[in-house]
Amino acid sequence: MNWNKEILKNFVKKIILDHQFIVVSCREPYLHAYSNQGVTYITPASGMATAIMPIMTACGGVWIAHGSGEADREVVDELDHIAVPPEDPKYTLRRVWLSKEEEDGFYYGYANEGLWPLSHIVYSRPTFRAKDWEMYRRVNEKFCEAVIQELHGKPGFVFIQDYHFSLLSRLIKNKRPDVVVAQFWHIPWPNREAFRVCPHGDDILDGLLGNDILGFHLRYHCLNFLETINHNIEAIVNYERFSVTRYGRESLIRAFPISIDFAAISEIASSEETEKRSAEIRGDFRVRDKWLGVGIDRIDYTKGIIERFAAIDCFLEKYPAFRGKFVFMQLGPISRIRIPKYREYNDAVYRVMVEINDKWKLKDWQPIIMKKIHLSLGEVVAYFRAADLCIVSSIHDGMNLVAKEFIAARVDHDGVLLLSQFAGAARELPEALMINPLAVDQFADQIRNALEMSPEEKTRRMSKMRNSVERNNVFRWAGHILKEMKKER
Ligand code: G6P
Repeated sequence: MNWNKEILKNFVKKIILDHQFIVVSCREPYLHAYSNQGVTYITPASGMATAIMPIMTACGGVWIAHGSGEADREVVDELDHIAVPPEDPKYTLRRVWLSKEEEDGFYYGYANEGLWPLSHIVYSRPTFRAKDWEMYRRVNEKFCEAVIQELHGKPGFVFIQDYHFSLLSRLIKNKRPDVVVAQFWHIPWPNREAFRVCPHGDDILDGLLGNDILGFHLRYHCLNFLETINHNIEAIVNYERFSVTRYGRESLIRAFPISIDFAAISEIASSEETEKRSAEIRGDFRVRDKWLGVGIDRIDYTKGIIERFAAIDCFLEKYPAFRGKFVFMQLGPISRIRIPKYREYNDAVYRVMVEINDKWKLKDWQPIIMKKIHLSLGEVVAYFRAADLCIVSSIHDGMNLVAKEFIAARVDHDGVLLLSQFAGAARELPEALMINPLAVDQFADQIRNALEMSPEEKTRRMSKMRNSVERNNVFRWAGHILKEMKKER
């Protein structure tokens, strides 16, 4: 079946019936802020939020998330609710407030200095502090209270997102064993050797086994998880069924490769406005027959931004004909900047860019332009359409939705995707030009291959990738998870 918004909507209507449908995540879909025009909002740069937004818009329900925007409190009602999307409300956002101490310990500390580097194999050492763990537990409990309130004593489906809430499903089940709980882990699950350094590993594993269904992007991550369970806690691991039984209750462990709303992005990409904007962007670069490359990421050490710049440096060294003719735009917001490692990375990215630009710059040309900005989806799509190539060079990534967004934006079936073999997306997109971000020479060669690829070859590869992403869209992802939840009801 070819899933789309309407099919998912009808499917949800049939299965939800009298059930409450609740999604929980740390990052919220809209952040309100003060501006010259009063209170406005932005949508965050988050693969998780990108995927969940179209589902909530199609299905309705309540999305519980941390209210982290500076003006968030101004716009909610007495129940901390706000109807969203703001211009055409389709579901309820319930904001949960965290104190600074809770945010520091739970979000910055345990989730992003502990679990994030633990799960991504990028040679960045995780830090586990007892006080962060305490806050992590406390915030998981706080979200559990919010879930129980939003259920209003009715039967329900609760769909939890990501590594911020590894204890939540167990807490919910302790209070409401009848509720169907599923969780999706949006980042990789590490192998058991990497996981063993986590001092709270057993509690985390036990917490996750409160879920009826636990989803990862890849079968490989499911296998890592089953192995981790097998070697750490008392439970029956069934490799035939891909399940774990603990305290007599079974949790299904399943791979659901996440995706995007392909149709919506293609529609934006085909609009007159995007055509105009992308022609404008190209105009800026094509003045003297220049090629344009683009990369869009949060500034995060897992994304391989420095490796990408090093490959551009090597490419210019090896292939002098491209000097003065290739410009690479690196776009995307700074991220998690209160964490020292992110501050250092942010500085290092800038330093490396300046060094490379100084080395190669000509009178009116420099190879790398970086804008540390948050772009609207319309702008992202316009840059994708304007570019000759897009680079996704994550050192490790659960899926990477930027790669899929680039493909959806190329309604002209043109453009080349250079994709890290260490991003989950690489399994679904073999027609991309594969790179190992740490193999700098090969990476540089692939940039040249992309720029010299024949138009027919580009179209052939892009058409295949577009077919694949169109079929395996985010509604299919959600539909498959909901089908499993329905079986549990
Ligand atoms: C990853 C995580 C998401 C998170 C996003 C942005 O994609 O899986 O849960 O929202 O990064 O990070 P942030 O910390 O800004 O929410």
